[in-house]
Amino acid sequence: MTLPEIRNHWENWASEFGTDLRATTKTPTIKQLEVDVLQRAIKKTELWASRKNLSVLDIGCGNGYNSFAMSTFLPECHFTGIDYVPAMIDNAKIIQKNNPKYKDVSFFVGDALDLVSNTNLAAGYDVIFTDRCVINLNPLEMQLKSFDQMVAKTNKGGYIMILENSVQTHARQNDLRVAVGLPPRPVMEFNLFIDEPAFIAHAEKSTKLVRIDDFGTLHDILLYVITPMLNNGVVDYDHPVVKAATELCVSLPEKYENQFGTFGQNRLWIFQK
Ligand SMILES: C[S@@+](CC[C@H](N)C(=O)[O-])C[C@H]1O[C@@H](n2cnc3c(N)ncnc32)[C@H](O)[C@@H]1O
Repeated sequence: MTLPEIRNHWENWASEFGTDLRATTKTPTIKQLEVDVLQRAIKKTELWASRKNLSVLDIGCGNGYNSFAMSTFLPECHFTGIDYVPAMIDNAKIIQKNNPKYKDVSFFVGDALDLVSNTNLAAGYDVIFTDRCVINLNPLEMQLKSFDQMVAKTNKGGYIMILENSVQTHARQNDLRVAVGLPPRPVMEFNLFIDEPAFIAHAEKSTKLVRIDDFGTLHDILLYVITPMLNNGVVDYDHPVVKAATELCVSLPEKYENQFGTFGQNRLWIFQK
């Protein structure tokens, strides 16, 4: 799909699903894991160790779910969400109006490809993160451009956390499916997954890759391989085993993080400026 068609896709989902989580994902369980790994990652930074009132920018925030959830885990931080679909931002503000506990989160319309001239944004942020936003940009050069915009808006010593789908781990997950007679899962037409060697080589020109989190492996093997094996190939987003695995993963002691392998289609790459 072209960039205008992709934008149109998100405008349609914003108007169809409104304030519901479904406006940005079909998988509520992976959303729980995304929020969990992001808040864990912020708590592991050197900045968090020295002061907790970090400024955090959520790029491609949709209707605000991540910033709302993370603001409850990290009440010391200030969260700002931007999305290029005005209806997504309107819906985030509706959720906020109905939930006074989220009143301190800020929302603005903004494009990941042009952060620098967005006058609503601060000069720099301690942490900038994306969650399945960069995969909506194509070709690769646009993804790299958005990364450079994030670098420009990150304070020195700050972090850029990229939680996105990987070409390489998605392929590994499909290898497991094929091994048990399931067809590979295709990439949605509006996504270009992150090609890790090219993306990381570019990112490391201006930042340092400090960590990769494979938080979704157990969840994704159960959701996309094991339960479909028992279920005529059907992916069941509500399967109790997937929910139980999610509960286990959000409760996982830190010493056991990253122990399930690299078969989750989403990874979290953490870069420091
Ligand atoms: C898969 S949804 C994820 C939403 C949110 N990050 C989450 O994890 O729940 C992708 C979001 O990225 C937004 N988006 C895509 N391209 C963007 C761009 N160039 N600038 C800002 N937002 C963008 C879409 O409007 C959509 O809300």
